[in-house]
Amino acid sequence: MGWKTLDDMDLNGKRVLVRVDINVPIVDGVVTDATRIERIVPSVRDILKAGGRPILLAHFGRPGGERRENLSLKQLVPTLEAAFGAKVLFAADCVGTEAELAAQELKPGQVLLLENTRFHAAETKNDADLAAGMARLGDVYCNDAFSAAHRAHSSTEAIARLLPACAGRLMQAELQALEGALGAPKRPVTAVVGGAKVSTKLELLGNLIDKVDYLVIGGGMANTFLVAKGVNVGKSLAEREMKDTAADVLAKAETSGCTIVLPTDIVVAEKFEANAPHQVLPADQCPDDSMILDAGPDSVAAISDIFAQSQTLIWNGPLGAFELEPFDAATNAAALKAAALTRSGQLISVAGGGDTVAALNASGAAHDFSYISTAGGAFLEWMEGKTLPGVAALEK
Ligand code: 3PG
Ligand code: MG
Repeated sequence: MGWKTLDDMDLNGKRVLVRVDINVPIVDGVVTDATRIERIVPSVRDILKAGGRPILLAHFGRPGGERRENLSLKQLVPTLEAAFGAKVLFAADCVGTEAELAAQELKPGQVLLLENTRFHAAETKNDADLAAGMARLGDVYCNDAFSAAHRAHSSTEAIARLLPACAGRLMQAELQALEGALGAPKRPVTAVVGGAKVSTKLELLGNLIDKVDYLVIGGGMANTFLVAKGVNVGKSLAEREMKDTAADVLAKAETSGCTIVLPTDIVVAEKFEANAPHQVLPADQCPDDSMILDAGPDSVAAISDIFAQSQTLIWNGPLGAFELEPFDAATNAAALKAAALTRSGQLISVAGGGDTVAALNASGAAHDFSYISTAGGAFLEWMEGKTLPGVAALEK
């Protein structure tokens, strides 16, 4: 790996600007999932231990360059203090005199949190002047925000060229897990790709076909592939105009030696509703007035077999309409199989993406996976084979 880590930096007495992703969900002022906060604790703790003074740079939501009080990072101070077990001070801007003073006066053992970087419109333009203003606050830059590394922003990209830069602990862990799953994986490798649309995941499918042995396709995307094979999918969600593209993917997979796995049986209902009356049918028997909402039990058995033969699994996207019971059944059953194989040491399993992690948490399988990424978009772009600007900037 071509970047430095915290171990390579002299941190004693240094102000360490740490780019973190604490873009956590909040309902009525309460953090409903603190995973991203828990995952930055190792970096903060290690910097404090080494005598460094952590100064946190982060975005929150998409304020579009305006100061919006509901998107102030100040509200996260208590949650951060509890997670770090340290005093967290707050500066009401991420650049300028107040922030510079606060950074100078920061005492050993304390952490400084800077206000939402996206209150500046320049941030998302990767503006060099804004980055220079941030760089004045620190001696060292540490990027621990893998999940924001697909953004070339002042706080993730431009700043990395202005200070001695390194990857934080979470960044290291994320990259290691992904590298293990797709870079130089133990074979056979299986990828599960689900979700609504083929059109949003075309690049992903193209890249995976060259890298994995089995590609399990689920969710609405699978319907488009069934259409490409000439199957009637009734009222199902499907991108019928993408059927030639899907056919190309199938043809390309065949020449690359990648086995594409589509449902052989389906769960259909007339309505897109929780507990809608439903039946299990062969995949080519969807009635005209019905829609496919999940993969059936035979499909799950086939997927489980493939998992059992695999050494590595990478998962992005649910197999069915997992937000509606009981159409989460295939996703849950397959996830639990992957979890059991991982627990018994037979499988390395990595999952990422917002919906995916929600689905795996709901199934109770998530904690047995080898690695659950904190990233949504960045996980997908990495799986697509793209260079992430925030990671590339650390390599320079
Ligand atoms: C996320 O929540 O996916 C990251 O924090 C990135 O946020 P963004 O999609 O608004 O850039
Ligand atoms: Mg996003």
